[in-house]
Amino acid sequence: MIWREYHEQTKHSRESLRRNRHFLDWANMPDPFRHYDGAPVIDLPASPAVPETLRAARDGAEFFSSLLFHSAAISAAKLVPSTGYRYALRVNPSSGNLHPTEFHFSARGVAGWPDGHYHYRPSSHMAEHRATGPFPLEGIEAPVVFVLTSIAWREAWKYQSRAYRYCCHDIGHARESLAMAAREMGCSVRVEDSFDDDAIAAGLRLHSDEWPMLLVALSGGAIPLEPREHSGPAAWTPGEANELSPIRVPYPWIDRVHEAAKAPRTQFSAAPVKASEGIALPEPARCERPFAESVRGRRSALDFMGGARPISLAQLSALLASTALGAQGRLELYLYAHRVTGLEPGVYRFTPGSRRLDLVKTGDQQVMAAALSLGQQLAGNCCVAFSMIARLGPSDRDYRIAHFEAGATGQRLYVTAERLGLRATGIGAFFDDEVHRYLGIDPDAGRQVIYHFAIGYPVHDPRLEA
Ligand SMILES: Cc1cc2nc3c(=O)[nH]c(=O)nc-3n(C[C@H](O)[C@H](O)[C@H](O)COP(=O)(O)O)c2cc1C
Repeated sequence: MIWREYHEQTKHSRESLRRNRHFLDWANMPDPFRHYDGAPVIDLPASPAVPETLRAARDGAEFFSSLLFHSAAISAAKLVPSTGYRYALRVNPSSGNLHPTEFHFSARGVAGWPDGHYHYRPSSHMAEHRATGPFPLEGIEAPVVFVLTSIAWREAWKYQSRAYRYCCHDIGHARESLAMAAREMGCSVRVEDSFDDDAIAAGLRLHSDEWPMLLVALSGGAIPLEPREHSGPAAWTPGEANELSPIRVPYPWIDRVHEAAKAPRTQFSAAPVKASEGIALPEPARCERPFAESVRGRRSALDFMGGARPISLAQLSALLASTALGAQGRLELYLYAHRVTGLEPGVYRFTPGSRRLDLVKTGDQQVMAAALSLGQQLAGNCCVAFSMIARLGPSDRDYRIAHFEAGATGQRLYVTAERLGLRATGIGAFFDDEVHRYLGIDPDAGRQVIYHFAIGYPVHDPRLEA
C-alpha cells in the first residue's frame, strides 16, 4: 500500500507551504494541447445539435460533435489584461486550468464513421484518426469506447507531487461531463475502472508521458449504427504525439503511486452509513436552465458575493440529490452552511441515501471554511462549502477510484449549480490534517478528506470572455 505514504507526503500544512521553494517555470510550461502531428483529421461540424434534443444522429460526425462539444470542447476564453495573454477554458473543468486529461475513443459500426481509433483535438474541435480497424478493448462490447488518459506532468508543473490527486479529480470531472452529455442523448453509459493499464497504453501507442485512467463505454440512444464487415487488424496512421515541453521534470512520488494503482482493485465494501434522524430535505428545486446552455456556460467562480443573499433549502436539496451518492458509496459530504434559508449556519453531515442532514457544529463557519481551504476566501463567501470525505481501504487502485468519484460528484454539483442559476468552484487545496481535526474524522480508521467545493453567487470575473 503506497497511497498512505503518498497522501502523507502531499498534504498541505502551514509548514509545507513555508518550506516550498517551487516557482512556475513559464519557459518549460507543458503545452495544454496534445496533437498527433501528421494524423488525418476529421472535422466535427460546428454548432451541433444540443444533446437533450438529439435522439438519432444522422452520422458519426453529428454524434461525436454534439457529444464532445458539450463535454470536452473549448467553451470560453480568459484574457489577462496586464499581459494580453488569452487562454482557453473548456466544458470540463481542471485544476489550475492545466487540463491533464486527454479524450481518446474507438468506434465500431458507427454510421458514416470509419472503424478505428481516434484522439479528440479540442483546440480545433476535430478528431485525429490514429488507427483504422477494430481496437481490441477486451471484454467491452460497445460501439463507442472512450479511454480517458492523464498527462500528470501538465499538472505537476504547477502542483508538484500533489498533482496526482488533481489528475484523478480531473478524470472524474471528465468522465461525468462525458456521461451526462451521453445520457442526455439517451445513451447507456458503462464506466470501467479495472483494466490492464500497461496493455491499454501499449495498445493505444500512448506517449510515455500519458497514462490510461478510465474507460467509458457508450451504447444505444442517439449513436447511429450501420452493419459492418469485420475489418482486419488495426493499421496505424503516421501521426506522432507532440512533445509538451523542453524538459519533463520527474516527480517520483507520482510515479510510485501511479505504479501501485495499476494493481487490480479489491472488492470495495464500505460500512453502511448509519440511518439519520436529522433534518429532512424538502423536494429538490427544479433545474430551469437547459442542459446544453448550462454545460457550455459553466464556469468556476473566481470568488463569491458574500453578503446576505441565501440559497433556498430546496436548491440545496437539488444539489445534494444530483450527487446521487448512495448509502453504500465511498463518499460522504460535510457541508459548511453559511447562507441557506431555513438552516442555521453550521456544519452538517449529509447522509447519502436518507436525504437528511445531521448537525455537526453550530455557528458561523465562514472564517473556518476559508481557513481550511488554504485561506481561500471563496470557501467563506459562498452560500455553502463542502468537504468530501472518502472511505478508503488498503488498495491503491481504490485510492485513485475514490478521487475519480469525488471529481464526478463535483461535476454533477457544478452543472446542477448552473442549472439552478448558481455557480460553483472545485477546491483541491486544503489543509488535510486540520480538516480532519475540525470535523472529527479519524484518518487511521480509513477516512480522508479528498476534495473541497463551494457554491453560491459569483462575483464578476473581468478576465472572462464568452
Ligand atoms: C480538481 C480541481 C481543483 C480545483 N481547485 C481550485 C482551488 O483550490 N481554488 C480555485 O480557486 N479554483 C480551483 N479549481 C477551479 C479551476 O481553477 C478551474 O476549473 C479552472 O481554472 C478552469 O476554469 P473553469 O472551471 O471556469 O473552466 C479547481 C478545479 C478542479 C477541477
